[in-house]
Amino acid sequence: MSEKNVLRPETLAISTGRPSKGPDGPVNTPISLNSTFHAGGDVGYGRYGNENWTALENAIGAFESGASLIFSSGMAAISAVFSILPVGAVVTASHQGYSGVMTLLNNLHASGKIDVRFVDVSDTEAVLAALPGTALLWLESPTNPTLAIADLPRLISAAKAEGCGVAVDNTFATPLLQQPLVMGADIVAHSVTKYFAGHSDVVMGSLSTRDPALFTRLEDVRKIGGAIPGPFEAWLALRGLRTFPLRFERACANAMEIATRLSSHPKVAEVHYPGLPEDSQHARAASFMKGFGAVLSFTLHSDGEHADRVCESSSVITYATSLGGIESLWERRRRWAGESKSVPESLIRLSLGCENIEDLWEDILRSLEKA
Ligand SMILES: Cc1ncc(COP(=O)(O)O)c(C=O)c1O
Repeated sequence: MSEKNVLRPETLAISTGRPSKGPDGPVNTPISLNSTFHAGGDVGYGRYGNENWTALENAIGAFESGASLIFSSGMAAISAVFSILPVGAVVTASHQGYSGVMTLLNNLHASGKIDVRFVDVSDTEAVLAALPGTALLWLESPTNPTLAIADLPRLISAAKAEGCGVAVDNTFATPLLQQPLVMGADIVAHSVTKYFAGHSDVVMGSLSTRDPALFTRLEDVRKIGGAIPGPFEAWLALRGLRTFPLRFERACANAMEIATRLSSHPKVAEVHYPGLPEDSQHARAASFMKGFGAVLSFTLHSDGEHADRVCESSSVITYATSLGGIESLWERRRRWAGESKSVPESLIRLSLGCENIEDLWEDILRSLEKA
């Protein structure tokens, strides 16, 4: 615990999750390829634990100021949270968050397992009005893909006062910009696939909590449900996490600069990035976040087909889904059937990586022209 309090994020990323020190001991946790372990220990079987998981969980836990569990994907981690709710429980969630979570919630609602109230999480009064009777407030902020900001400090404390559980998907902001557990949330979820792993080569998720009983329940879901990551993937994600603060700082700076330049491009109708002083979410984001993240989205004056052609035209920016990698990625979100219909047809989500800013800008200019 003292390590958490003393070390700054860049140092934390480099020093946590290491094996104990000793002459000729390894500096990195060796990849433990074992489905079973000699009897009599705490782990026992490969579905229950693994030293590569523990190393990564210690690092993520240090960042989120809680205890962490890793899962086979972000969606597996998020599914584990909904799976511990009693049948018929009310979940209040963002009406425009990550489309996979909205699909999952709609499916659970349709099958009668839970009751979902969708709200605009940036409309604080609407969220507050939905709290009575809510078992779990599911928050994502900034939201994917329109970068709406929920007033996390206010909503978390109001939900706790009302007796609701609170879970926050912290994938976009990362613990470098906000720590929901410190604000009082019960659970923080991540798609580790994104910034933590950071190289578009791993699919993984995590949950973090400060509540030991909740931790045990979620760990039991993983043990029995079996949505476990492989040891190699855990090793790879921890290797990626070593440079996470460095990558994220550069990617956020790139996002701020590209958002600013896009705002005055004649083909661009609107830019969503909470770092822009004129963005409707800026004041709220600035009031409690330490920065504004590395994803932005923008709409064109033209239609969806044109937006698709823009994405197809790039050479530095990769035309692909996902975000949080060292390489910049973009795509038109409405190309996915599951995306919310309230997202404009021409909206392009751009996840900034760590490339040179001028190379990125020239690529964007070329793509807007060519298409
Ligand atoms: C905000 C957010 N949460 C969760 C997920 C799901 O994570 P995964 O793809 O690792 O299952 C994603 C994936 O894009 C996401 O953007």
